Amino acid sequence: MSSSTKIGTFLLNDGTRIPRTGWGTGTALFKQDVTDVTALAIKSGLTHLDTAQAYCNEDSLASGIATSGVPRSSIYLLTKINELPEGKTIRDTIVESLQKLRIDTIDLFLIHSPLKFRGEGKKSLQAAWRALEEAKAEGLAKSIGVSNFMIEDLEDILETATVVPAVNQIEFHAYLLDATRELLEYNAKKGIVIEAYGGLSPLFRKTGGPLDYPPPFNIQATYAGGSATQGQILIKWLHAKGIVALTTTSKESRMKEIRATETLPDLTADEVKAIDKAGSGQHHRAYWKGILP
Ligand SMILES: NC(=O)c1ccc[n+]([C@@H]2O[C@H](COP(=O)([O-])OP(=O)(O)OC[C@H]3O[C@@H](n4cnc5c(N)ncnc54)[C@H](OP(=O)(O)O)[C@@H]3O)[C@@H](O)[C@H]2O)c1
Repeated sequence: MSSSTKIGTFLLNDGTRIPRTGWGTGTALFKQDVTDVTALAIKSGLTHLDTAQAYCNEDSLASGIATSGVPRSSIYLLTKINELPEGKTIRDTIVESLQKLRIDTIDLFLIHSPLKFRGEGKKSLQAAWRALEEAKAEGLAKSIGVSNFMIEDLEDILETATVVPAVNQIEFHAYLLDATRELLEYNAKKGIVIEAYGGLSPLFRKTGGPLDYPPPFNIQATYAGGSATQGQILIKWLHAKGIVALTTTSKESRMKEIRATETLPDLTADEVKAIDKAGSGQHHRAYWKGILP
């Protein structure tokens, strides 16, 4: 692995760039002290970091950044609001996040889910998005976006928006291709970049499917780019679609494996199609089950 190979970036609709591979502190790290594991991830070359107010680890993530010794300017940081605490405004919670993260401005701030902001229907959701637009105008966030937004949620905020979300962070992998086809097309039409979490689900959450290795699915053996793990191939598949891959691990070896994805050649069009074909007709959702399609 050459950690000197820069992580590729995708251009966002506000002119900023997002590193196409991120490392998250949800899942197993939810509500944990992530100081040491964050420092390890950064030292392994993973510098796009995902947290959320709901994960309750923004402060220890900041400690991890400090411990790593890597300058803040080399880190891409994002957090999200999931729920508005009683008596607080969205701006209050953004400022609290920035204080915990020990920064004045964040690279990307997201609404974690539309669900908690639909109190009085679409007007509440539109008001929440307006608060993010104001935070961006004030310089508290360089980019703003959403997470787990379906087409109707996006349509509602775009009715009154002055800023189009830069990113929509959603669960996405080959076994959600059919369920998200229209959503992906809609986001592409609006210039919203997709950031995918749960991208490694075919590897370990939904085993016995057509993307399992060893055969029937054998893309590792036929990958024109040479030797790669199945996880690396699934990340390359997301990149080929212009999708940011947000994954996680606590293990140094896997951090290095994820980082080393950057040194691998792109999948060929046929390899992308082979994974699309294997995923089509399958359905597996690990998060927001029963709520999202
Ligand atoms: N916006 C949202 O609503 C939302 C929802 C969920 C997640 N997220 C964010 O997205 C991040 C990533 O989410 P995710 O957990 O869904 O990512 P994922 O990439 O699908 O899964 C990561 C898990 O895969 C395991 N793993 C990695 N390589 C493996 C392999 N070769 N074989 C078997 N297991 C392997 C890791 O386990 P080890 O630790 O053992 O390596 C880790 O627990 C989260 O941390 C969070 O920041 C956001």
